[in-house]
This record gives sequence, C-alpha cells and structure tokens, in this order.
Amino acid sequence: MKGIILHGGHGTRLRPLTHTGPKQLLPIANKPMSQYCLEALKEAGITDIAIIVGGLGATKVQEYYGSGERFGVKISYIQQDQPRGISHAVRLCKDFVGDQKFVVILGDNIIKEHISEYARNFQQSDADASILLCEVSNPTAFGIAEVKDGQIIKIMEKPENPRSNLAVTGIYFLTPTIFDIIDRLKPSWRNELEITDALQMILDEKYKITYYMVTDYWKDTGTPNDILHANKVILESIEPYFHGIKELNVTITGKVMVGENTIIKSNSKIIGPVIIGKNCVIHPETRIGPNTSIGDNSKISKCDIENSIIMPNCNIETNIKIRDSIIAFNSEIISNPKNNDNKIFLLGEGTKISL
Ligand code: TTP
Repeated sequence: MKGIILHGGHGTRLRPLTHTGPKQLLPIANKPMSQYCLEALKEAGITDIAIIVGGLGATKVQEYYGSGERFGVKISYIQQDQPRGISHAVRLCKDFVGDQKFVVILGDNIIKEHISEYARNFQQSDADASILLCEVSNPTAFGIAEVKDGQIIKIMEKPENPRSNLAVTGIYFLTPTIFDIIDRLKPSWRNELEITDALQMILDEKYKITYYMVTDYWKDTGTPNDILHANKVILESIEPYFHGIKELNVTITGKVMVGENTIIKSNSKIIGPVIIGKNCVIHPETRIGPNTSIGDNSKISKCDIENSIIMPNCNIETNIKIRDSIIAFNSEIISNPKNNDNKIFLLGEGTKISL
C-alpha cells in the first residue's frame, strides 16, 4: 500500500500565516502538522509516500522532509501547478500508485487514532474505497455522508441542509478505480475537482465504498482556532520530559515538555500542558501556559502567555498578557525602548492585532 500526503492548497483562512509558507508546516506542539500524517502512515507500515506540493511552499516542504530518510520513509514529490481540488491532486498520483491500493491524507488533518487497523482491513477487503467519518456539531462546514443501515447512501460537499452530522475526514483509502472516475469529473462551482464528487460517483456507479467511524480526536485545521484547539489536544497527549535547566524558585505544574539547553530562570511559572523547544530562555517573572507551545530558540520575558503558539526564533520581552494567539517564526514583541506609551508596529499583510 502506498501513501499520499496533500501539501498544496491556498490556505486563505490562515493568512497571514500562510503568506510565507504552506499551512501544513505550521507547528502543532512544536511539530509541523503534516508530520503527524507522515508518522501515521509510517506507523501503519506505509513507507512509500508521495507528497503533493504546490506554489510558494513547495521548496520549504522539500527542504524539511528531504528524501524521507530522516523519518524512516521514502518520499517522492509531485507538483500541483494550481490548487485545482483534492481530486485533481489525487489524479496526479496515478503513475506513483501503479496498481496498488493507497491512502490519501490531507496534510492539515490531525487524527489521534492510529490508522494501521483501517489500512489492514482495507488491504484485505474488496472495497473500492473506504473513508473515515467523524461526528461534528457544525455539519454545514464539511463534506457530509448520509448513512443508512451501515451503508453510505450519499456524500455531499458542505450541504446547506445536512441530512447527517457525519463529516468525511481527510483520510481516504482508495484503489486505482478512482483515477478513471476523476477523469470524468466536472469542476465544482468553486472550480475545483472535489473529492466528495468523486466519492459520490463511486456510489452512483455501484462500486463498493465502506466507512469507519473515528471515535477519538480528529481536526481539520483550516482556521487559527482549529490550530489552537489541535495544539491543546496534542499537548495533553504527550509524555512529559525535561531536558533543560531549571533555576531555583521555578514553579512547574501539569504536563510540561522542555527541550535541550532551554533555561527556565527563577521566579517563572510554567503551567502544563506546555511544550518549550530547544535553546530557549524563559526569563524571570514569566508565566507560560496552559495549552501553549514555544518553538526552539525563543526568548520569553516578563509576559504571561496562555493558549497560544509561539513559533521558533521569537523574542517576546514585554509585560503583556498574550491569549489565544499564533505568533509566527522570527517575530519580536518588545517594549518601546523610549519607554513611552507609543506602540510601534511593523506588520506584514493581513496581520491581526487585538489591543
Ligand atoms: P482546503 O483546506 O479545502 O483548502 P485550502 O488549503 O486551499 O485552504 P483555504 O480553504 O483556507 O484556502 O484543502 C484541504 C487540504 O488539501 C489541505 O491540506 C490542502 C490540500 N489541497 C491540495 O493539496 N491541493 C488542492 O488543490 C487543494 C484544494 C487542497
């Protein structure tokens, strides 16, 4: 069985974070979200993996994953010229897949459950496709499957009046049958070749499509709030470790993960779940957590950070409360050196600030 990770797309809902790189490389608990997909495939014994890349982010993806050797897998890269839809991206993999069964994972989907059993079942079954469904409270935002007597009877993309609350997650077990179907698909109103349309056509043409229910956590991380939520849930599931240096009078409670060479200075407070990467300095009088990730090489001083993601190489040195925030790589928030009330901003396009 082969694996495919979708790493293209527009990422418009995550701007400005996606102006400079693909959303799937944004870190959740200090790890790019698509790495969770790669690890899920590897755990299921799928090590021949293609990553679909497109646009500006392609080079960054290839720099990070390389040949895959570092991750114990073999990676091929397939270019998608424009985000023309998930089905379009899947169709590009026809030669890579050959006559094998395969699994496609959207690189921005976080699933806590292992997929190995689903993969094994699909490998042994005679189904032409199998999908993972998950109950959601806002079904108008997803591709939705209607199920009757254990059979999928209809699949619709973001229906206005959903007939069920079963979202089609971004993990699809497929056979090469899908390629012929995609060749006959028409673009949707948003001019994309939709995966839900391809799945519906599988149903219409009486091919066999099965499903499994995801009972543990699944998140399609399209928006900043989705990312913060996934960060919280993943942090809660990591085994605590401490590889840094702790000065006297540091308070640490709950699940806390601290990387090599990170110094936590005296009188600071870390309230788990929190992850702090390598080579960070947490200065005195700083409060971090809960539900917070601090990336490698960051310097945090005097502030109070909760439910947030601070990416690597950031410098935050001012007495403020930071809540529900995502601060991208190499950012700086410091006190005005003239020590007056004036705020000085140097903001990229689409930045959001709430004072
Ligand atoms: P979406 O989240 O549906 O789309 P998007 O990434 O363009 O984001 P937004 O809606 O905020 O603009 O995409 C789902 C996943 O599929 C995501 O991991 C990106 C990937 N994808 C591709 O690789 N190629 C494509 O053509 C499309 C549409 C998505």
